Amino acid sequence: MAYNEFKMDNQWLPFTPNRSFAKDPRIFVAADGMHFTTHDGRQVIDGISSLWCVGAGHNRKPINDAIKQQLDTLDYATAFSVSNDKAFKAAEMIAAMAPGDLNKVLFCNSGSEAADTSLKVALAYHRARGEGHRNIFIGRERGYHGVGFGGMSVGGIPANRKVYGTSLLPRVDHLRFIHDPLKHAFVQHQEPVWEEDILLELENRILPLHDPSNVAAVIVEPVAGSAGWYVPPKGYLKRLREICDKHGILLIFDEVITGFGRLGTAFGADWYGVQPDMLNFAKCVTNGVIPLGGVVCSQRIYDAMMGAHGSAPDHAIEFFHGYTYSGHPVACAAAIATLELFQQENLFARAGQMGQVLSDAMFGAIKGLPHVIGIRSLGLACAVELAPQPGMPGKRAFDVFLDCFHRGVLVRNAGDNLVFAPPYIVEREHIETMVSVLADAIKRLPA
Ligand SMILES: Cc1ncc(COP(=O)(O)O)c(C=O)c1O
Repeated sequence: MAYNEFKMDNQWLPFTPNRSFAKDPRIFVAADGMHFTTHDGRQVIDGISSLWCVGAGHNRKPINDAIKQQLDTLDYATAFSVSNDKAFKAAEMIAAMAPGDLNKVLFCNSGSEAADTSLKVALAYHRARGEGHRNIFIGRERGYHGVGFGGMSVGGIPANRKVYGTSLLPRVDHLRFIHDPLKHAFVQHQEPVWEEDILLELENRILPLHDPSNVAAVIVEPVAGSAGWYVPPKGYLKRLREICDKHGILLIFDEVITGFGRLGTAFGADWYGVQPDMLNFAKCVTNGVIPLGGVVCSQRIYDAMMGAHGSAPDHAIEFFHGYTYSGHPVACAAAIATLELFQQENLFARAGQMGQVLSDAMFGAIKGLPHVIGIRSLGLACAVELAPQPGMPGKRAFDVFLDCFHRGVLVRNAGDNLVFAPPYIVEREHIETMVSVLADAIKRLPA
């Protein structure tokens, strides 16, 4: 199939080098299972689940049917002061999957909105308890929490922040990054064991500097996804939980990538055995088919917010926040069908199994190739780090991304990392193709 009947004059592409794209367009017109079809009729393996979204693979009939049926039944209904049956059902399913007393789902439409929602809940919760002075947030260097001003502020990817200066939230600090390129460049499907206690910095420097009684929340990704799949040291999240508990600080896990199966468990919180106070999700919850995101809050947070209004009249709103499309019935119908499909096909466990296959194949074929200075795998994701080309950071990985694309594999370049995170339905043969195409592209790089 070849299809070229469109102009490319009017779309400004997100997070994309637009001038380069215009010279070498990469356009999909169809997708099924593990593959895309391009406008010029080629097949491309989706090696990244379309940015960590399409866990169940493309074009899944139960999800598509649920959407079509919902459109014919209740297309849309406002979310304010009324609701819809699918939003309650989706929330019930998500709460049942979430650990411990994470029971109350605030829906939104994206991971960025989830980040800002969770930060706002943190401030409102502390204020409801009479601790409105707790307004400092702590993120982590190279963390990614989307592109809203809240998420950007707690995020730590320099290129995403540098243009916005004092427009970022003022009372934010960052934990140091969780990577040691000398001792732990290669992380093969397990947690790296650090001799150093990396969280001493939080206890001994960051918290005393601000005074812990002023800190509202710490927000981290269980595994740093967008930066290039960096795995925290063993015990890190447990210790972070303990420090937060000691000082009454909320802990937010941004599980937009790790949520719904990527590590072989429902959430990163399950893999690590650590329960946050809020858990942000998006992407895989609808298999990426329709935008939906949310924050699962603990019962304790919800109760505090309701309790603070105990003496207020019944018509008083407890939390002035929400989106026109919060709990959109079509998105929630897609979520219900997606979560059922994950369960029916046991796809989280499959992600765990295929993660080992991906990791073995990647370490076998890529370690030792020129320019490769690190490989990190955990769950069904693996990143290969290249030495930056002097004076041109990111160039080598971009060249490899282009080369792979033209040879039928979509890989994600993030800085000088190349990341694979295929759908959970991936087969051994797809992994072999992805890894050999990547290896050849790396070998073709100029010295
Ligand atoms: C951890 C994390 N949080 C938030 C986001 C932002 O999500 P969205 O692009 O849906 O706004 C992303 C996107 O990749 C993410 O990885």
